[in-house]
Amino acid sequence: MSKAWFRHERFGMFIHWGLYALPARHEWVKNREQLTDEQYDRYFERFDADLYDPREWARSARTAGMRYVVLTTKHHDGFCLWDSALTEYKVTNTPYGRDLLTPFVEACRAEGLKVGFYHSLIDWHHPSFPIDGLHPQGDDEAAKAAAAGRDIAEYRTYLHGQIRELLTGFGQIDYLFFDFSYAGRPQTWGGKGAEEWGAEELLAMVRELQPDILVNDRTGLPGDFVTPEQYQPAGPMTGPEGPIAWEACQTLNGSWGYDRDNLDYKSPDLLLRMLIDGVSKDGNLLLNVGPTGRGLIDPRAEGTLAAIGDWMRLHERSIRGCGAPEYVAPPDCRYTQNGDRLYLHLFSWPFKHVHLPGLAGRVRYAQLLSDASEIHLVEPDLSRLHENTQPGGQPAGTLTLQLPVRRPEVAVPVIELFLSPSA
Ligand code: GLC
Repeated sequence: MSKAWFRHERFGMFIHWGLYALPARHEWVKNREQLTDEQYDRYFERFDADLYDPREWARSARTAGMRYVVLTTKHHDGFCLWDSALTEYKVTNTPYGRDLLTPFVEACRAEGLKVGFYHSLIDWHHPSFPIDGLHPQGDDEAAKAAAAGRDIAEYRTYLHGQIRELLTGFGQIDYLFFDFSYAGRPQTWGGKGAEEWGAEELLAMVRELQPDILVNDRTGLPGDFVTPEQYQPAGPMTGPEGPIAWEACQTLNGSWGYDRDNLDYKSPDLLLRMLIDGVSKDGNLLLNVGPTGRGLIDPRAEGTLAAIGDWMRLHERSIRGCGAPEYVAPPDCRYTQNGDRLYLHLFSWPFKHVHLPGLAGRVRYAQLLSDASEIHLVEPDLSRLHENTQPGGQPAGTLTLQLPVRRPEVAVPVIELFLSPSA
């Protein structure tokens, strides 16, 4: 199955990059500050990513343990990172003056990473995109009056034409993230969705041009996977036809674009626990970085990626190829499973014992994953009573692991359990 890589790899990098890296205060800055095109132009006039080297990005992703990368080809501000024939609002007309996408795609491939494009369905620059409740000029009566005759059909043609460019001009594209639909949202007037985007036609074209591509669920029609954003689902996700592939997209600090003064950083430990939690529920993690206007992943983000990579180097096999387990994990733990290997992730380190319900007689061997050191198994002895230094027997079916006092010096300790073949 050509799409099987997605569930296998489990961990990807999201990159939000565009003009909004220059104001450096969230990728929605044009909307939040109700900037006009003229006001926002100051970023277009100064975009010059002199330190852009996507090979560095790809290396950082790979070292962090990520195996696919998804870059914003165009965000809601409408600015295009490639030399589109359909607009002048593109990187080749900025001081930087060169296409950003071709080197990006080549760098990913050189590192053996799958290539993904994010593309905004919303466009706050295109002259035919009707002003609505999300638009930066949504409260500007004069702008609204001037835009009254806008015809979304023209924008639709542009949208489809750009997707054709993206899917024909850069070789094989493995993944496409459309963003987003808001038809019928009570709090947003003028919402748009499948009908406005021409989603049926759009998706048919995508599948025709790139038969192996994975497409997300935000066109207003179902896709190959669903995209919980900035939250962790409570369990495996399901669609109308049962279990469905899912991918949580998460930020480092709450913002997708580079946001200089936002210090609300998640720690590497927390991010790893989110990755593990997702895989234990059969999902992926797409973790975002927002490079600066000069084209660098800033040092804080690089530090986080490096710390994640340190853990992934030792624990990759509890993530890659793993999914939801057949057993219920004890408190403060998550299991992931890959065939006859069950991985116990300990979010907190208990003293001496951890009890695993339902695993008595099911485990042949156990080891700490970080250093392959053996962990003793204590099979249940129901007749045993607790006395002085001896703990009592556990309920039937419980397997007990004997842990060292010192927790291994890794962000999240993992015990690898080798299951016996099922009876
Ligand atoms: C949202 C936001 C956006 C971000 C995206 C990532 O829908 O509008 O800024 O790109 O989610 O999933």
